[in-house]
Amino acid sequence: MSINFGIQSTLHVAIIMDGNGRWALARGLPRVAGHRAGADAVRRVVEAAPPLGIGTLTVFAFSADNWRRPTAEVSALMELFGRFLRAETERCLANGVRLEVIGRRDRLSDSLQCAIGRAEAATALGTRLRLRIAVDYSGRDAILSAVEGVDLVSRESVEGALGPPVDLLIRTGGERRLSDFLLWECAYAELVFSRRMWPDFGADDLAGAVREFRGRERRFGSVPAAMAAREASWLD
Ligand code: FPP
Repeated sequence: MSINFGIQSTLHVAIIMDGNGRWALARGLPRVAGHRAGADAVRRVVEAAPPLGIGTLTVFAFSADNWRRPTAEVSALMELFGRFLRAETERCLANGVRLEVIGRRDRLSDSLQCAIGRAEAATALGTRLRLRIAVDYSGRDAILSAVEGVDLVSRESVEGALGPPVDLLIRTGGERRLSDFLLWECAYAELVFSRRMWPDFGADDLAGAVREFRGRERRFGSVPAAMAAREASWLD
């Protein structure tokens, strides 16, 4: 982990996109309408991310526990993911976005697995933004798989298997929990909770969260530089 007290140009921002269901309920719409509006919010945030210095964006689309939802909602979500991947691949290519899906694949339909493979292969050379979509994802299971997959277990090898540390974790919808998302990677993440329902979250909200992040001092267990200097001067 790099210790950086200044501005970091390639942030890893992770988002727990919560509130689709309540957004729909408030409008007298079915929950799936909230998920559809949520997909539009993903598009807006992906567009807004690079100018804010975000190099990696990981969004939580479907947790390993979301299989417990009603079958119709699960099917609608899976269909939405497939449609999103097919529709967005061209736009990702044009905008230098590398698309990846993290999480288990073996419980997804063949056609969704195919759509994921195609989108990942087509956008593999994108360098402007790494967009990671977590589907059938569990942070605890990801840690177990990473540990099982390395020869020698160490912080570095596990981090290498999992992915980059998260700088800023945003959760929308007013709840304040991690819900098994990127548990290892969030060890030193700054947390920002927004009351905004995910479908209403936009570029300004993302910019506001990044501004809040930039205003925080990240010490990674150390003390502020000014305090360290003052302490040192007392020892002289
Ligand atoms: C949580 O809100 C949201 C989800 C479990 C699904 C997230 C999916 C999307 C944002 C749609 C599309 C995403 C992509 C990448 C195409 P909730 O349904 O639990 O809302 P609630 O807490 O208000 O009920």
